[in-house]
Amino acid sequence: MSVAKPLPHDAAKLHVTGAARYVDDIPTPATTLHIAFGLSTVAAGTLNGMDLRDVTAAPGVVAVLTAADLPFDNDVSPSNHDEPLLATDAVHYAGQPVFMVIATTHLAARHAARLGAVDITPTTPILTIEEALAADARFEDGPRIYQKGDATAALTTAPQTLSGTINIGGQEHFYLEGQAALALPQDNGDMVVHSSTQHPTEIQHKVAEALGTPMHAVRVETRRMGGGFGGKESQGNALAVACAVAAARTGRPCKMRYDRDDDMIVTGKRHDFRIDYTVGFDATGRISALDFTHYTRCGWAMDLSLPVADRAMLHADNAYHLDNIRITSHRLRTNTQSATAFRGFGGPQGIVGIERVMDHIAQSLGFDPLAVRRANFYADVMQPDATGQAHDHRALPHDTEADLASRGAPPAPQESTPPQPTGLQTTPYHQPVQDCIINALTDRLAQTSDYAARRAAIADWNATQPVLKRGIALTPVKFGISFTLTHLNQAGALVHVYQDGSIHLNHGGTEMGQGLFQKVAQVAASRFGVDLSVVKITATDTGKVPNTSATAASSGTDLNGMAVQAACDTIRDRIADHLAERYQTTADQIRFADGQVHIGEEVISFAQAAASAYENRVSLSSTGYYKTPEIEWDRIKGRGRPFFYFAYGAAVTEVVIDTLTGENRILRADILHDAGASLNPALDIGQIEGGYVQGAGWLTTEELVWDAKGTLKTHAPSTYKIPAISDRPDVFNVALWDEPNPAQTIYRSKAVGEPPLMLGISAFMALSDAVRACGDGFGDLQTPATAEAVLTAIGKARNAL
Ligand code: MTE
Ligand code: MOS
Repeated sequence: MSVAKPLPHDAAKLHVTGAARYVDDIPTPATTLHIAFGLSTVAAGTLNGMDLRDVTAAPGVVAVLTAADLPFDNDVSPSNHDEPLLATDAVHYAGQPVFMVIATTHLAARHAARLGAVDITPTTPILTIEEALAADARFEDGPRIYQKGDATAALTTAPQTLSGTINIGGQEHFYLEGQAALALPQDNGDMVVHSSTQHPTEIQHKVAEALGTPMHAVRVETRRMGGGFGGKESQGNALAVACAVAAARTGRPCKMRYDRDDDMIVTGKRHDFRIDYTVGFDATGRISALDFTHYTRCGWAMDLSLPVADRAMLHADNAYHLDNIRITSHRLRTNTQSATAFRGFGGPQGIVGIERVMDHIAQSLGFDPLAVRRANFYADVMQPDATGQAHDHRALPHDTEADLASRGAPPAPQESTPPQPTGLQTTPYHQPVQDCIINALTDRLAQTSDYAARRAAIADWNATQPVLKRGIALTPVKFGISFTLTHLNQAGALVHVYQDGSIHLNHGGTEMGQGLFQKVAQVAASRFGVDLSVVKITATDTGKVPNTSATAASSGTDLNGMAVQAACDTIRDRIADHLAERYQTTADQIRFADGQVHIGEEVISFAQAAASAYENRVSLSSTGYYKTPEIEWDRIKGRGRPFFYFAYGAAVTEVVIDTLTGENRILRADILHDAGASLNPALDIGQIEGGYVQGAGWLTTEELVWDAKGTLKTHAPSTYKIPAISDRPDVFNVALWDEPNPAQTIYRSKAVGEPPLMLGISAFMALSDAVRACGDGFGDLQTPATAEAVLTAIGKARNAL
């Protein structure tokens, strides 16, 4: 079987030799034209007009288009129809495309785009969360509220309460390959588009709208992306639509790629948040009441902000069982880039909120923060049994009176919660938590990372060292798997077996470096019992598999793996039926293994089996389809079962800070992460390492700065610092919690794309811990914990003494 093997990424050699083809590497016809946008330099204002004579006259310019020149829909939004490709009568952020230049070369287009004189009457921009609140600028009528129990009443009776605020910064995706698209006009107005996108169907849809054609006239192909991280779920629409409109108008191929600075200035980023909280708890640190308010800065257009803000609410509990909780969420409109999907999709922000609460309680009680975390964990219930048998998720009611009574007395600090027999623990959105392993996983990680001894050693070090202080933290992750928009949880596949026994594999998922194609190819090879080399991985193509969802929500393998399995099994069963007839036996006597087909005592090669099926007129091509079972969700009420299952993990990070400068380093990270029965441990560990580093970067060095006029000042690697190879922890121990998923997923694996990002939160909490060694408390450390932020927190901690 090809599954469960630590095989390298299918394109690893191409990646490291530079031979992998991205959109910009596709050989283009000599007649190809290039596109650049002219951008607004003003964050908010009325667009009076523009003088584009210099642009038109610039060398190499073929045409210059404004909104008035767009023949059909001028919209590149994913759903809300509030995002014109080119500004119409107003501008909404500094960086908004206002006109487009079509020129003979990439550089000619970019040079000309700077020559436009755009006449804007500026208005006062709304830039910050506070300004948006004051102006009541928001995307839904009022705040959205999810609740369970009665937080207000429980707060009044809580033995102790604390309140606080944490500001959480945004994040630039910094995919290595910038946004890019290439449109090739075909016969009769049809269009082929190559796009660096996580969502080819949406590109097809938006291009069709912009060209005024049915979707069948547009075919979108995506072989791979050089990283997406959520930044290519919707942000590629503008380039693809611009190329298609220009190609339709000129009859020539048109290509567009953003320069890195433009990419950062034009496209949306992770949402920054402010989270306010009031928590009630007892002397053991057990929380009895929690009231969160999330303020989400969405930018100028809606994009995916509502589901992002929802997912932040759905992760406000992280791994903690809360009886009385209210989460209030404000989705605020600002004159900044339209914030978008980014690995974790709001989940990370929600989790940072409750992890700060845990630290705050620990600080107030003088406990090890891990003891407070353990005192609040969901109980480990319904562990998978030895056979990996699925549990019947429908056996449990969604929420009952017993729910509130299901938790016994809080455990003593420093001890893990014993597994409890009842499964009636629910999340704040009333979904039962039936697959929890966080206590056992934390116990094992605390042991393998030597947490207790290292904490003691760090305390000793900090007692004697005046300048360098160390800190350590263990934080858990529980992440819900499924799109919260339930209908997106579907996938299709198309598999062909050729008469020589080679296999052509296609499905709706896209490859962005995460290894989806390899994992799914492993599934296909396993179904036919052939070597992986027999399976040809092919580009995602809207002409082969229609109506796909974005490759997002970490669900790529879960969905497409199942669809591919279904397609393969259809073909395999047809071959088996044919051979059973030919060899006068029954299909259950036929086995596919080791590149061969065993028919009772007889053995033929898979290629011979395919040829025989072909010659006997048996179809060797099939589609496959899958939809996730059991999920249902009411996002307005905040009730239901949005997630098919949860993925778990935990990380221990140790850091050192320089108290004179605030500079800091990660010394060691230990991770234990749950990928279920891993389809490919090498790729999964790669996802975990990358996710951790990306999460740690978000919360430490990656700082987005806008000036008072709303101009993004950090728009290049010179001013925006992502982790470098030298920022990788010196000691980095990553292990898989290798138990099968109790939910019926493909080979009992678990999604692994996003959850590890939240392991990086332990780096931030370790920095808080180091600051705590400088005085009283964590100095209200805010994210990102840059050297400046750490220095400020050290000052506050010292003053608090
Ligand atoms: N890994 C790499 N190398 N590059 C990426 O762009 N995107 C992440 C994650 N891991 C990403 C990545 C995000 S945001 C998601 S949702 C998942 O991969 C998507 O792929 P999957 O569903 O196949 O896990
Ligand atoms: Mo990932 S943020 O769901 O593309």
